[in-house]
Amino acid sequence: MSDKKRVSRRQFLNYTLTGVGGFMAAGMLAPMVRFAIDPVLQTQEGGDLKSVVSVDEITNEPQRFEWTINQVDAWYESEIQKTAWVYRNDNDEIIALSPICTHLGCTVDWASNEEYPNQFFCPCHAGRYTKDGVNVPGTPPTAPLPMFEHEVRDGMLYLGDAKSRKGA
Ligand code: FES
Repeated sequence: MSDKKRVSRRQFLNYTLTGVGGFMAAGMLAPMVRFAIDPVLQTQEGGDLKSVVSVDEITNEPQRFEWTINQVDAWYESEIQKTAWVYRNDNDEIIALSPICTHLGCTVDWASNEEYPNQFFCPCHAGRYTKDGVNVPGTPPTAPLPMFEHEVRDGMLYLGDAKSRKGA
């Protein structure tokens, strides 16, 4: 008589079902795991500088420029519109200021109030900033307007993230 072990019908069915079940479970779980860790696998665009305007267009008077960036927030990707007040100061340096009021986040305008023609003015609570974006003491904002990091390449102004500054 042979010593070979024979696989019973029950064992064969068990092995087959376990194998097929495991294969199907792996097939269903793999996309879920990939989806769960997807943001980790993505390269982030945050911090990139974007081309905004030709430097020839920048004057000594603050002008408002807009551009868009792609924002990836975990699984959600969207296009965000950004805005900056840009001008050349007396030393011919380019200054790019955020228009977001540091009091409660309204949008400031340049020279929009007749009484303060050379200042940024926030219409929400009459907040004011000097041309370099420093908050005027005695008005609601307690910090200067954030300043965009910038770079000039091939005659174009590139802007990055707006950085907060210490209060006046
Ligand atoms: S939000 Fe600008 S002064 Fe209040």
